[in-house]
Amino acid sequence: MKDLQKGSDSYTVKYLLGEENIDIPLSHRRWNNYIEIKGARENNLKGIDVKFPLNVMTVVTGVSGSGKSTLVRDIFYKALKREYSDVSDRPGEFIALEGNVKMIKDIEFVDQNPIGKSSRSNPVTYVKAYDEIRKLFAEQPLAKQMGYTAGYFSFNTEGGRCEECKGEGTVTVEMQFMADLVLECESCHGKRFNSDTLEIKYKDKNIYDILEMTVNQAVEFFTEHNQRKIIKKLLPLQQVGLGYIKLGQPSSTLSGGENQRVKLAYFLSLEKSESTIFVFDEPTTGLHFHDIKKLMNALDALIERGHTIIIIEHNMDIIKCADYIIDLGAEGGKDGGNIVCTGTPEEIAECKESYTGRFLTDKLK
Ligand SMILES: Nc1ncnc2c1ncn2[C@@H]1O[C@H](COP(=O)(O)OP(=O)(O)O)[C@@H](O)[C@H]1O
Ligand SMILES: [Mg+2]
Ligand SMILES: [Zn+2]
Repeated sequence: MKDLQKGSDSYTVKYLLGEENIDIPLSHRRWNNYIEIKGARENNLKGIDVKFPLNVMTVVTGVSGSGKSTLVRDIFYKALKREYSDVSDRPGEFIALEGNVKMIKDIEFVDQNPIGKSSRSNPVTYVKAYDEIRKLFAEQPLAKQMGYTAGYFSFNTEGGRCEECKGEGTVTVEMQFMADLVLECESCHGKRFNSDTLEIKYKDKNIYDILEMTVNQAVEFFTEHNQRKIIKKLLPLQQVGLGYIKLGQPSSTLSGGENQRVKLAYFLSLEKSESTIFVFDEPTTGLHFHDIKKLMNALDALIERGHTIIIIEHNMDIIKCADYIIDLGAEGGKDGGNIVCTGTPEEIAECKESYTGRFLTDKLK
C-alpha cells in the first residue's frame, strides 16, 4: 500500500486508497407494486413464494448453488417472457404468477454476449445513431446530385461500401497451422467505403472520418452543428460511460462489460420506453470498480425511466446499493433453496442467519 501514489490518476489506486468510492445511498426507493412467484420448486427450490418489487433495484444474493439462477432466470424470467411475448422456453416449476403482472410490458435478460451477429455491427448501429448519420450524408448536395440514398452509406449492403472487403475495412487470410491473418483491405485502405462515397462530406468530414470519431468527439461535433436527432442517439452511450469508444469500432472488439452497457444504452435511447424488467446474472463479473460505478449509473437511469432492475450479485458494492434484497440459502445444493431473509440492506445486516448480512454489517459501517 505504501508504494501507491496519492493523487495518482489510476482508478485502481484511487479505489485502493479510498479516494474513490461507491457511496452507500442515503435512502432506498420505496415500492408498492410487485410480481410474486408462488411455489417455486425447480432444482433445489423448496416451494418458496417470492415477491419481486417493481420500479426499484432488487439484488438476489446467496452462496453459490443456493438457487439464485434457478429462481431468477429459469422461473421468474422465463415465466414472464412467456406472458409478454410468444417466444420463450418453458419455465422451471412453480405454481402461480401473481401481483402487478399487467403493469409491465416486457422483460429482458441482459448478458455480456456480443451485440449484433455480423462482424460489421458496432455500437452506433446498435443504438441506431448510424441511421441518422446516414440520412444526414444522403441530404448533402453532392449526394443528392449523384442520387446516393441513405442506404448508400451503409456497410451492410452493396452500393457505397468497398466490395473488396464488404465494408469491413479488413480482409481475413486463412493460414494453415496458424491463426488467421487480418490485413487492412488494399482496395479501400481500411476506410470501408469506395472513393465515390468518401467524396461526400458533411462539414468537411466524410463518413469514414465520422466513424473514426469517439462518441465524445462525435457528440461535440454534432452539437456544434446542432444535429439533435444524432446527438440524442449518442448521448446514452456517453451516459453509460462509453464516451471513449470509436463510432465504427467493431462489436467483436468490445469487452463483455462494454457489450452489456451498449445494450443498456440502447434501452436508454428509446423515445417511448414501455415499462420493462431488466434481469442480470452476476453482471460485475470481470468488471473493474470504475466500470461497476458506470454500470450502477446506467441502472439508476433505467429506474428513473420507470423500469425495474433485478440482479443476481455477490459484489458488496452493488448489494449495499439495493433497494431490496432477496437472500437465498442458507447453503448450496439440497440445503439451499430457501429464503433466508428479505428487506433493505440494513434489515439484511440484522439477520443473524444470513451470510450476506454478516458481510453487509461491515460494509454499512
Ligand atoms: N439443470 C440442472 N439439473 C439439476 N440440478 C441443477 C440444474 N441446474 C442447477 N442445479 C442445481 O440446483 C441448485 C441451484 O443452482 P443455481 O440456481 O444455479 O444456483 P446459484 O445460481 O445460486 O449458484 C444447485 O445445487 C445446482 O447444482
Ligand atoms: Mg447462478
Ligand atoms: Zn475495402
